[in-house]
Amino acid sequence: MYLGLDLGTSGVKAMLMDEEQRIVGSATGALDVDRPHPGWSEQNPADWIRAAEEAIAQLKAAHAEALAAVRGIGLSGQMHGATLLDEGDAVLRPCILWNDTRSFREAEALDGDPQFRALTGNIVFPGFTAPKLAWVRENEPEIFARVRWVLLPKDYLRLWLTGEHMSEMSDSAGTSWLDTGKRKWSTSLLAATHLEERQMPELVEGTDAAGTVRPELASRWGMGSGVLVAGGAGDNAASACGMGTVGEGQAFVSLGTSGVLFAANASYLPNPESAVHAFCHALPNTWHQMGVILSATDALNWHSGVTGRSAADLTGELGESLRAPGSATFLPYLSGERTPHNDAAIRGAFVGLGHESSRPLLTQAVLEGVSFAIRDSLEALRAAGTQLERVTAIGGGSRSRYWLKSIATALNLPVDLPADGDFGAAFGAARLGLIAAADADPVAVCAAPETAETIAPEGPLVQAYEDAYQRYRRLYPALKGAMS
Ligand code: XUL
Repeated sequence: MYLGLDLGTSGVKAMLMDEEQRIVGSATGALDVDRPHPGWSEQNPADWIRAAEEAIAQLKAAHAEALAAVRGIGLSGQMHGATLLDEGDAVLRPCILWNDTRSFREAEALDGDPQFRALTGNIVFPGFTAPKLAWVRENEPEIFARVRWVLLPKDYLRLWLTGEHMSEMSDSAGTSWLDTGKRKWSTSLLAATHLEERQMPELVEGTDAAGTVRPELASRWGMGSGVLVAGGAGDNAASACGMGTVGEGQAFVSLGTSGVLFAANASYLPNPESAVHAFCHALPNTWHQMGVILSATDALNWHSGVTGRSAADLTGELGESLRAPGSATFLPYLSGERTPHNDAAIRGAFVGLGHESSRPLLTQAVLEGVSFAIRDSLEALRAAGTQLERVTAIGGGSRSRYWLKSIATALNLPVDLPADGDFGAAFGAARLGLIAAADADPVAVCAAPETAETIAPEGPLVQAYEDAYQRYRRLYPALKGAMS
């Protein structure tokens, strides 16, 4: 039996998987995000542990025997967060999350130093870890002086689980301190932010062992001794392991809090100019590219909060038949945007409102706006030399048929839906736990699930979507001009 633990932004999900990769059960402990100032986004690491304990306790209540039989655990997590610990591993301040853009000035300054793009293969985005440390040094020098360890969110869970300070390549590639081609920390990039390699966790591959569960936790959960914890992966690479997106040409679109268009690559293909992320994959000697938008289901959840209707009610109101985009256009830049704009200051907008702009039409515009933002990522991947023939859809937003049709039509690509099951990051993490504990072949384990159904682009609406996308593209520069 294997356990996958995914530390998401809205909750920690724990999933039990057996030797044949059948899902035995899953449970979630909820998390909130603190937004003390505009552009800030934080969580307390203690809440991650509380949510993980809750999820595992639920699994224990429902599947005690299976939990006791766990041999390997895999970790996955929201990327880029800066978890700062002192000499005694005490947390120094709330974790600054992936969608926090307060460090945009520091990011711009680091990005201006050519060695960052040259070694990491990426723009230094404000959401990445290095500029956050530069912000802390500037604004909270007494905290910066006490930083003994900088850990990514899932690696803080590992510290709690195993007592080890360790990380792996896929998540570490999102720090702006990793030499992504060589898969090792760059001492010169660390030095550029006044840090040393001794403050970073030791690196392994995602499929390698990285600690064993502490006896105290193992006995609480009824597990035996020596349960192994795999390196694991950042949540996008972990999802890719769950979806079998590990070979050249395979791709998925993830509609989670963030939106991601992810393509697996056989080699390292950086192209920072297109604002595409080029990171290490979780499997040894593989890499991937992705476009990331900061608000996908987050945009629908915002609309849900404003209208006082649940997200499921709002998408339900649209029915399942795709309609041509109307006069209202939504730009989903609620937290600024990464791909393709790298703009922390931009904010979202509804444009083209009329008396006809009813709640369902606004919901339609929100879904379309996210689809167009994903299309921007498709164009960025194309500019980076990656051609996609089809994509598989995952994430909470993929429960809406309307949204899936809208994505297929905006991308003008078929969208595959995996056969019934949950093949996301927690499943991918459990697979990494299996590979590490059973010394299994990574590619064989990370097979693609069967496709249950393919959503084709809606032929008659492709041109209307294309026109609406071109209008959407013209709005960003106009909005930027008006807001500056
Ligand atoms: C990826 C990114 C997000 C988070 C969400 O670069 O910032 O997808 O990993 O959890």
